[in-house]
Order: sequence, then C-alpha cells, then structure tokens
Amino acid sequence: MNYIGSKHKLSEFITSTIHKVVGNDLSDKVLCDLFAGTGIVGRSFKQKVKKVISNDFEYYSYVLNKNYIENHLPIPDKENYIDKLNQIKPQEGFIYSNYCRGGHGDRQYFSDKNGKKIDAIRTQIEVWKNTAEIDANLYYFLIASLLESADKVANTASVYGAYLKHLKKSAQKELVLAPAEFELNEHNHKVYNEDSNLLIKKIKGDILYLDPPYNARQYGANYHILNTIALYDTFIPKGKTGLRTYNKSDYCSKNSVKRAFEDLIKEADFTYIFLSYNNEGLMTPKEIKQIMSKYGAYSLVSTDYRRFKADKDINRKHQASRTEEYLHILKK
Ligand SMILES: C[S@@+](CC[C@H](N)C(=O)[O-])C[C@H]1O[C@@H](n2cnc3c(N)ncnc32)[C@H](O)[C@@H]1O
Repeated sequence: MNYIGSKHKLSEFITSTIHKVVGNDLSDKVLCDLFAGTGIVGRSFKQKVKKVISNDFEYYSYVLNKNYIENHLPIPDKENYIDKLNQIKPQEGFIYSNYCRGGHGDRQYFSDKNGKKIDAIRTQIEVWKNTAEIDANLYYFLIASLLESADKVANTASVYGAYLKHLKKSAQKELVLAPAEFELNEHNHKVYNEDSNLLIKKIKGDILYLDPPYNARQYGANYHILNTIALYDTFIPKGKTGLRTYNKSDYCSKNSVKRAFEDLIKEADFTYIFLSYNNEGLMTPKEIKQIMSKYGAYSLVSTDYRRFKADKDINRKHQASRTEEYLHILKK
C-alpha cells in the first residue's frame, strides 16, 4: 500500500540500526511498534523477537496488523474463502451508494462495478462472522485482503483526501481479491487500536519503535475510505469527499506535539527507544534531542533517502524529493 510515511523502503536501515544498538540476538526481546500504520516494521521483527506489540489508532491499520502481526498460525481453507469471495455477485451497498458515480453521492472513489464488489464482499464477510462460519483470525485476514485489494483500484492520486474526476487506468481494472499473506511463526503477538499516549501506560517491553506523523496531515482524513470499508458502519458522509468523523492526532499539531512526545517518552517502560522522524517535521532534531536526553543516553543516526511526494495533480504524483530520515535513539 502506498502509505504516507511508510517505512517500507527504510526497513533495512531501521532493522540494522536496532541490531547494532541492541544486539544480534533479539529472541528474548519484546518489541513494540506503537504507530504501526501498514505494520511493515513490526512485520520485519516478527521472526526475530519473542513478541511484537503493534498499535495504531486508525481502525484500518488495526485490521492490517491483526492479520499481519497477530495471525501467526496457518488458517485452514483460507484460499477457498478468497475464491468464494472472488466469485460473489456484485451488489449495491454503502460504498456504491456514497462513493461511486452511479450512487447518490456524486463521488468517484471506485468504478461502479468495483464499488458493488466491495459491498458484496464486505457484506458476506460480516455474514460469515455473525453466523460463526469464520473465526476472528480468518475475519481479519479477509478484511485485510479486501482493504489492500480495494486500495489497488481506488480512483485517487494517492490518498483518499480527494478522488479523480475521470477513472484512471488502474481504477478501471476489476477488483480481484488477493490474499494478504502473513508470516507463520510460533510466538504470540498482540495488536491494539488505542491512542499511543494511553496505551504506553499499560504496556512494557525492551524495544519501543516510534513512527508518529511528522506533519499536519491527519491519517484519519487521508484514509477515511479504508476505515469505512473496515468498519462497514453507516453514517452521513460529509461534503464533496464524503468524509466521516475522524481521529485527530496530537502529533499533527505544532501546539500539542512536544507535550505529547515528552509525555510518551516519560511514560515508556522500555529500555531502548527508537524514533523515526525526518528533517521537515513539526519538531526539529534539536527539540527532539532536548526532550529525549532528559530521560537517558541519547544518540542519533540518519540516512539520505528518496521520498515520493503525494500530489493532487496525478501527472506530478511521482515527483521525488530527497529528505534526510533520522533515527533518534534513547537508552533509558
Ligand atoms: C508515519 S505513520 C506510520 C507508518 C508505519 N511505520 C509504516 O511503515 O506503515 C504514523 C501512524 O501513526 C498513527 N497515529 C497518529 N497519531 C496516533 C496516536 N496518537 N496514537 C496511535 N497512532 C497514531 C497514524 O494513524 C499512522 O498510521
């Protein structure tokens, strides 16, 4: 998934730095990915540590992580369920009615056919859950598969803050449900859906990885459609883009970010803390250093990297820019 602030391309830098600082063998360690997003960082430690704790206050992210992190044993027959859902007859539902051209919302986040397919698949998954045909593991696997497959055919420049006037090529393709394959392993992992600053008071471990938003863009507004598919509740969509009520993060505002960050560092019952942040963030590297240094031994590593800018203008979507990505390290 093309996700704002995704650490997909930086996961090698993050894992190797964590190894350098904490050691090669992490098999007795508990690692927490507190702002998990797509879950890529937790996923790269799933085989290395005793336990991954993963959290994000967006529900679509919770679903992805319930599948990618918490699912760790084989799910019998899961491909069979994917096949059944791929053959399902499209039906008109909440997504078609509110987010497709043929519906009454005058919006176009998906082609009419894909909107109806999403509705039919999502409805069937809920029926299976309510009749106990499927358990929680299979439920989250199927919804995660739907979120990722729907995202591939979304008619947006990159995020869901706006849709495109004309159906772009990839959005004209028919949605095919692809399995969101997760890694098998013997350990139990735990996924939460809470505000970071509340959860931090209830958990403890060895390695805390922090990747909060670094600018004013709220994830709940930019990925609202994914929350709507994942929750599949009913509400009155607001305005041109059909927004739902969304979470507002303290990390997205200059007024609250430093207070929230310091509170988090203070409360964290973890030996090692790693914070990803880039040089264009709301907090400057100097401010971060000042805060973290109060609570233990601080150090900093950085890497240069090419970032793709999301842009409303589809033709300029893939403009690349160079930014420096920092990993601030604290041994408490
Ligand atoms: C930079 S992204 C994380 C990206 C992730 N590391 C990845 O590679 O996909 C920041 C995440 O923090 C989440 N978030 C923002 N404020 C939060 C809060 N107060 N508590 C929990 N999660 C929060 C957002 O929903 C978003 O998914």
